Amino acid sequence: MIFERPSRSKRSDVTPIYLEDIARHEGQAVAIRGWLANRRSSGRIHFLQVRDGSGFVQAVMSKAAVGEAVFTQADHLAQETSLVVRGTVRSDARAPGGYEIDVTGLEVVSPAHDYPITPKEHGVDYLMDRRHLWIRSARQQAILRVRHEVIDAVRSYFNSRGFILADTPIFTPSACEGTTTLFPVQYFDDATAYLTQSGQLYNEANAMALGRVYCFGPTFRAEKSKTRRHLTEFWMVEPEVAYATLDDTIQLAEGLVTAVVERALDRRARELKVLERDTTSLERVRTPFPRISYDDAAAKLREQGLPFEWGGDFGSPDETAISEMFDRPVAVTGYPSAIKAFYMKPHPERPEVSLSVDVLAPEGYGEIIGGGERLDDYDLLLKRIDDHKLPREAFEWYLDLRRYGSVPHAGFGMGIERVVSWICGLEHLREAIPYPRMLHRLYP
Ligand code: 4AD
Ligand code: MG
Repeated sequence: MIFERPSRSKRSDVTPIYLEDIARHEGQAVAIRGWLANRRSSGRIHFLQVRDGSGFVQAVMSKAAVGEAVFTQADHLAQETSLVVRGTVRSDARAPGGYEIDVTGLEVVSPAHDYPITPKEHGVDYLMDRRHLWIRSARQQAILRVRHEVIDAVRSYFNSRGFILADTPIFTPSACEGTTTLFPVQYFDDATAYLTQSGQLYNEANAMALGRVYCFGPTFRAEKSKTRRHLTEFWMVEPEVAYATLDDTIQLAEGLVTAVVERALDRRARELKVLERDTTSLERVRTPFPRISYDDAAAKLREQGLPFEWGGDFGSPDETAISEMFDRPVAVTGYPSAIKAFYMKPHPERPEVSLSVDVLAPEGYGEIIGGGERLDDYDLLLKRIDDHKLPREAFEWYLDLRRYGSVPHAGFGMGIERVVSWICGLEHLREAIPYPRMLHRLYP
């Protein structure tokens, strides 16, 4: 029955509750089913920090209230022992959550011995090796709750705007985002499949069927670089819209980012506080976002003395410098066609630049969104596939979309971990996903 919000137990008059609902139970006798996060004692009182997955509370146990035997047992409880604490909810202005529990009874469910993550400082590698336990800590829980909220906000945003969720495959026969970051997989005896880098190509087919679609799932890039912003497995949401222009897609992107940030601020204020996130810059996020062309951004970087050459991709210091020119996320448009993927539509008057957009987050968080208009002309697309030395056979189905009623269309991809790490103010993407996969990280 633990999967449902528990009802009043028949065996006793104690209601098992979740700590997130504690305010509704002031003055009542309740049971908390959880784990011991920490403990300290002062003579005749034990202060038990109990967590139950939905929150933390201090349970105050006095010898007078529980008797000698239970009190002595509590003296030896180790960190992460699972237990059921019974007691009365008391409001306390000094308590972090506003409430404490006066303990009347305690039952140990299962002991824990020498839990490896103690309240002292541990190195990141040590913690990453124990990621399956590290996620129990208050900070990691807060991040995962924000992640949950971001994903829920993303889904609500599209679902309430007529978009259809249509899933795209993970085993794919070909590259979407260049051949250098493909993960090959042996697909039975005689074929090689690749883990998808993006659902976009299938998403385009779905958009020709359903009009407004999105896909949302894990994507894979064999990134050999060790940066703070790259995972080898990350989650991406990708909308795609038939008949949409670059401008439409920028509006969709800024609406999405704004909705997601608002939702996190509104519903996850407690978590952002645990993370000590200064939210002033997040509160400034609203539409419309400033826009700047790649050309202008490049010129401004040079004015600032940065050694940037037109034609190159922005490095992380360049992106930081660009985002610092504005007080909210910025949409950078018109990247050189040569540095973008084969499917990007060239500008009709200036084919050396593409109808592309990247959205850069403030505070140095860099690119959170990449997208643009797609090449909808059959001959040009075929030429680009050849130019990029991509195997034509693998793209025959994709070319069909240009053979049978091709229309202009546009879309983008937003990396969930990039957004979570920006909203939470994280140093590194590895904390924005439960089990990060990186160049040297496949465990646990
Ligand atoms: O800019 P990218 O590579 O664009 C695409 O994959 C397009 N096919 C999307 C589309 O138009 N449907 O990736 C999109 C976003 C980036 O802006 C970034 O947020 C995230 O995905 N991203 C990564 N996140 C974590 N680790 C990586 N290695 C990432 N690579 C891209
Ligand atoms: Mg990109």
